[in-house]
Amino acid sequence: MIPHTEATRPEPGAHISEDSLAINVQGLSKHFGARKAVDGLTFSVPCGVIAGFIGPNGAGKTTTIRMLLGLIRPTEGTATVLGKGISHPHMYLPHIGGLIESPAFYPTLSGRKNLEVLAHLGGHPLQRVKQVLEFVGLNDRGKDLVRSYSLGMKQRLGVAMALLPDPELLILDEPANGLDPLGIIQLRDQLRTLRDQGKTILLSSHLLGELEQVSDWLVMLNQGKAVFSGPARTLVEHRGALIVEAADTIQRDLVARIATEEGYSVTQQDGSLHITCPVDWATELKKRAKETGATNITVHVREASLEESFLAMLKGAHQ
Ligand SMILES: Nc1ncnc2c1ncn2[C@@H]1O[C@H](COP(=O)(O)OP(=O)(O)OP(=O)(O)O)[C@@H](O)[C@H]1O
Ligand SMILES: [Mg+2]
Repeated sequence: MIPHTEATRPEPGAHISEDSLAINVQGLSKHFGARKAVDGLTFSVPCGVIAGFIGPNGAGKTTTIRMLLGLIRPTEGTATVLGKGISHPHMYLPHIGGLIESPAFYPTLSGRKNLEVLAHLGGHPLQRVKQVLEFVGLNDRGKDLVRSYSLGMKQRLGVAMALLPDPELLILDEPANGLDPLGIIQLRDQLRTLRDQGKTILLSSHLLGELEQVSDWLVMLNQGKAVFSGPARTLVEHRGALIVEAADTIQRDLVARIATEEGYSVTQQDGSLHITCPVDWATELKKRAKETGATNITVHVREASLEESFLAMLKGAHQ
């Protein structure tokens, strides 16, 4: 499998072949009694991206991740991880680093000792311990007992643990839990560094804003189903708005008519027009405005936030 670099990372709309997928989930379900925690879920994640796995509490993120890590069996459906079926997790687990919700440590051992024990059990070189402690910014506190760690420090130790096998694919469930704002910024930088080394990262969060800046790819989950899976840019660009200032009311009305005829919602705010539409429609709008005589207009582009996009998608608003 060839990792993507900055130049080869899939662009919106690019065709992605099956063998360049780090994760491919097809119709996956997990029922607990009558509860459908995951319900016919289908999504994919290409190699070499940071993929945000987003959904409200109870959407099925942790359950999906547990199935991908071979910890529980699906009720229905199939999935591959690094090209291997999840019914044979031993085929891909050595190439994966996973962190699920609150990881368990030996509280009476130091952070460094916890990692050394794991390195020993997993057959990883001991020098990895120093490297991963440094990478997550815990080197100074590595000798302290884990029971004296703050929540955020335990979370960092969990990321260090997931990194021990130098994995091709990193699956992190809510890694930002308990991190302070600086810790979140550092985590984003660490994830970008790992992606730039060619690794794939799937990271879940119920806080949309947390993943907005860092995700190249998004999988949005609601009630066990995917409501979106694709490049992050397509989503925010698609759900943006154009703010149009016109020199006079005649030109403003012309622009409003063009947008309305195209089926977009148009409102007036502080004398400007606010058109809810894909932001790349700006070029077409300017062209059509010019043809109808509205030559003196200014068009500003406003991309939707991830939160707005997600809410719009749940409402089934205009795609
Ligand atoms: N072992 C279990 N037994 C019964 N129900 C379960 C079990 N595990 C999860 N569920 C249910 O499945 C649904 C999905 O839970 P899951 O933990 O996957 O959600 P999540 O998206 O990770 O939520 P959060 O953001 O709160 O972590 C919830 O309704 C939960 O109560
Ligand atoms: Mg969860």
